[in-house]
Amino acid sequence: MGKSLVYKILERNLLSGNLTDGSEISVKVNQTLTQDSTGTMVYLQLAAMDIQEIQTELSVAYIDHNTLQAGFENADDHEFIKTCAAKYGIIYSKPGNGICHQLHLERFAKPGQVLIGSDSHTPTCGGIGTLSIGAGGLDVAVAMAKGYYFFKMPKVMNIELVGSLQSWVSAKDVILYILKRLSVKGGVGFIIEYSGEGIRNLSATDRATITNMGAELGATTSIFPSDEITKDFLTKQGRSQDFVPLTADSDAHYDEKMQINLDEITSMCAMPHSPDHVKAIRDIEVTKIDQVAIGSCTNSSYTDLMKVARILEGKKVHPDVSLVVSPGSSSILKMMSDNGALGTLIHAGARILEAACGPCIGMGQAPKSKAISLRTFNRNFEGRCGTKDASVFLVSPETAACSAITGFITDPSLYGEKPVIEIPKQYHVSNHYFIYPSEHRADHEIVMGPNIKPFPVNEPLASTMTGKILLKTKDNVTTDDIIPSHAALLPFRSNIPELSKHCFGTIANDFHIVAKKYNGGFIIGGENYGQGSSREHAALVPLYLGIKVVIAKSFARIHKANLINAGILPLTFVNKKDYLCLDELDDLRISEVLSGLKNHKGITLYNKTKEILIPLQFTGSERDAAILAAGGYLNYAKQSNF
Ligand code: F3S
Repeated sequence: MGKSLVYKILERNLLSGNLTDGSEISVKVNQTLTQDSTGTMVYLQLAAMDIQEIQTELSVAYIDHNTLQAGFENADDHEFIKTCAAKYGIIYSKPGNGICHQLHLERFAKPGQVLIGSDSHTPTCGGIGTLSIGAGGLDVAVAMAKGYYFFKMPKVMNIELVGSLQSWVSAKDVILYILKRLSVKGGVGFIIEYSGEGIRNLSATDRATITNMGAELGATTSIFPSDEITKDFLTKQGRSQDFVPLTADSDAHYDEKMQINLDEITSMCAMPHSPDHVKAIRDIEVTKIDQVAIGSCTNSSYTDLMKVARILEGKKVHPDVSLVVSPGSSSILKMMSDNGALGTLIHAGARILEAACGPCIGMGQAPKSKAISLRTFNRNFEGRCGTKDASVFLVSPETAACSAITGFITDPSLYGEKPVIEIPKQYHVSNHYFIYPSEHRADHEIVMGPNIKPFPVNEPLASTMTGKILLKTKDNVTTDDIIPSHAALLPFRSNIPELSKHCFGTIANDFHIVAKKYNGGFIIGGENYGQGSSREHAALVPLYLGIKVVIAKSFARIHKANLINAGILPLTFVNKKDYLCLDELDDLRISEVLSGLKNHKGITLYNKTKEILIPLQFTGSERDAAILAAGGYLNYAKQSNF
């Protein structure tokens, strides 16, 4: 039986374990990336590990999330990250340079390498054959300090693309179509590997759009082969030396397979408030729109934005619509400035934002109350745009641009002739926004302004744990629900005490006051608890508020890892219907926790209020159990003499 592409890359980088489904493996990490929103914590943790320099081939610290300087806080964070980068040998990408994933794709990712990033859309670089995984911040800090990453070997799902895309249908429609078929849970426990003759018509950035939103499928990562299209992209980025051809064997083994006929896909739209709530646009009733936002790490490539410019050429944005465009990188902005496309957008009435995450992370451009906002982004969770009662629809750049002109959600195929976009002979490449580390790193001091507060560190796990249920949630609670990411809170990513005042703010009243009143306690979750962003703060803030245990029907992968890293015990119900036997403020006790974890013999929960016993289970590895016993990864790392 032949090898999959995933197997080949992992086999080359394998440090421990074996590549069978569910085994714990460790792999050598070639590259890491951080963004500022998770990065401040990563660098606090890296500094706590007391290292001289990083062990990875290349690490980059991007500033793309919190780029608004309304107060000193973001600027403090940027300075802190910049000085850490200088001290430890990390490349620093200044604000304005662009979005981490688009920039990493353009400048650094290499086919066949392993990239770990403290952002859930790190899989974007799978578009050029990099095995790129979004991980918790502490995992990324350890990857930099030690050069490795531990995770459970996922299953590998092959998605074979056949046929070719219809006119006006693009990569975004493909991944929305896959989300419609598989749902936000369909990729959980899998790496998705794409193949088939249909990939020949997808550019490197089209492929990156598809791997980017593999995160919304819940997949560990997604990857395309490295072929002539990859070579062409890297060559035009001035990086032909980074190309290596990579493909699966023709008789490769996969745990699951599915085939998608690209001919069958029409323009798609994810309806509020979930990326898998997808409908074909032709099946949507006439919907008037207030805002169109184009950009984000999903759809801000040169070709995406050039398509938008061509569609808007000689046209005017509808009077009732605010159109905002954020380019993925400073290079794209420069090229569009040079070739006149920027002028076209401005002439049509678009508002041009800086090359950054911008409205995707709620950094400005919150729409008006009850607005209908059409976005080319990857997430449309309630409130993420900054306006609680707004409705966000996710679409392709083509749909977004046509709709901005008509003022309602418009199927682009009804719009007329599709413009042809020429991929440039050479992309603009500049180092002016990057600061490369110097030889004299020891001289650099880390600067910590007043917004940088110490992060919470847990105690070793107690064998008996008692407390009240402080909150019981429904299914699919996101990390945005646990810690909202709107603009007003983003400056406090390095200030956990301040952030804690907003914990569960979108779904519960005064959670932090309740948590303090009862000196911490338990949280009960539904299915897919902690889906969404990789944000470590969704574990660190509950830790600060004294949360000891989260019991859920199931967990999202990165959030579960973040809970374990924080030393918060993630347990699941043996019988999911037992979820119904627990209510807020019930008194709970679990005993013999340590032996239960160690021997995998199950853990029994006693609901003192209702006088019932409920069987629970811990599904982590032995190493996860050891991390929890130590009170989190940082304690474990210190004990293990990392
Ligand atoms: Fe940034 Fe939004 Fe992507 S916050 S990294 S553009 S998901």
